[in-house]
Amino acid sequence: MRTLIRNATCVLPDETRRADILIDGEQIAAIDPPPTVRFDDAIDAAGLHLLPGVIDDQVHFREPGLEHKEDLHTGSMACAKGGITTFLEMPNTRPATISRAALHAKLDLAATKCVVNYGFYIGATCENVDELKAARRTPGIKIFIGSSTGDLLVDEQSALERIFAETTLPICAHCEDESTVRANSERLGGGRVVSDHSRIRDHEAALIATRRSMELAVRHNHRFHVLHVSTAGECELLADHHNLVTAEACPHHLLFNIDDYERLGSLVQMNPSIKTAADNAALWEALRSGRIQVVATDHAPHTLEEKQQPYPASPSGLPAVENSLALMLNAVNSGRCTLEEVVRWMCDAPARVWDIVGKGRISEGYDADLVLVDLEKTQTIRNEEQLTKSGWSPWAGEELTGWPVRTWVLGQTVFADGRVDATVRGREAVFDHSRPGYWA
Ligand code: DOR
Repeated sequence: MRTLIRNATCVLPDETRRADILIDGEQIAAIDPPPTVRFDDAIDAAGLHLLPGVIDDQVHFREPGLEHKEDLHTGSMACAKGGITTFLEMPNTRPATISRAALHAKLDLAATKCVVNYGFYIGATCENVDELKAARRTPGIKIFIGSSTGDLLVDEQSALERIFAETTLPICAHCEDESTVRANSERLGGGRVVSDHSRIRDHEAALIATRRSMELAVRHNHRFHVLHVSTAGECELLADHHNLVTAEACPHHLLFNIDDYERLGSLVQMNPSIKTAADNAALWEALRSGRIQVVATDHAPHTLEEKQQPYPASPSGLPAVENSLALMLNAVNSGRCTLEEVVRWMCDAPARVWDIVGKGRISEGYDADLVLVDLEKTQTIRNEEQLTKSGWSPWAGEELTGWPVRTWVLGQTVFADGRVDATVRGREAVFDHSRPGYWA
């Protein structure tokens, strides 16, 4: 099957311009093919922008074990609607993905039910370094240096030293210092309200853990990715990146701050916690200056019923995959960033950080994972329209301008006319860790 996408304004690696894109089977066969080219189907995309499909390098899809919140099918459906064509999923499921057997079981399951492409991290524990050393078919190792949802935690220095010294896969980490969080919690005592979450998981907790893990990465010369940076202080640390350390910011840390607790309560409770307006500004600046390279969601669905329990029983996390691209396109429309930056942060950079083969850009020979966006479309986010099984969004009621309107996964249309085709199947992403990494 050959599809010609005509007249779209395409964000190409080095320029943004009107171009025709020929998809042949699963790949991008040509940019501006000759007028005589043969094709089976043509799409007129005049007035629309064509981007590489988004790669979300941090989602929690809850399968196996917590499927009442989300499963691999519903999570991937939400991705397709949001313009995400590849997701990388975290290991804090039940059981946790801490062995090759659990990793391969997830990959087998994903093949049967994911409408977009997928990859799964392997989680570190204090005891599983041999599994981490032997793991393949994964973007890398996830360490919870601070505890969050689930019971994965590696806080002991000797265990961290072993992981950084003995393994070769890239490492990413949830950086919130466990002893700082515990001490803050004890100091605050009982009678807590949800805004205390940002006092317990405070600036210091994030900064200490990010400093600690960056120090390990540099000393062991190990590629390292700081997940969900939330503070201006961490952005300062990242200025000195040593060509080994990359970092991620999430839409919720860019767009929410502690003033939002009053309006949204535990809906904006997540780990790391939201911080101040000054931190929002520092994160945007760190993205623009290249200290932070990636924007990803940390999609962490919990049911509304669970979220509405009084703090601290309310779980941390919020769903975001079906709105993250629209939130960033809306930021383009409001002059906060450019479309090319969004493509760099959400498509190109995650492919390079995680060594993903054939994805992240519109180039000949690359996979036909594409998203067509309408920068002028205005739409309000509504809970009843969310495809995530959790069925809500912290941005419900917000009107955004700039939306994905069509998504292709490996040349197949998976989202169009407001509907996701549940029968499409994505494929396991391929990671070539022999590449020199993001900074090369
Ligand atoms: O708020 C969060 N929720 N942060 C995490 O790191 C984990 C996530 C979850 O899985 O619920």
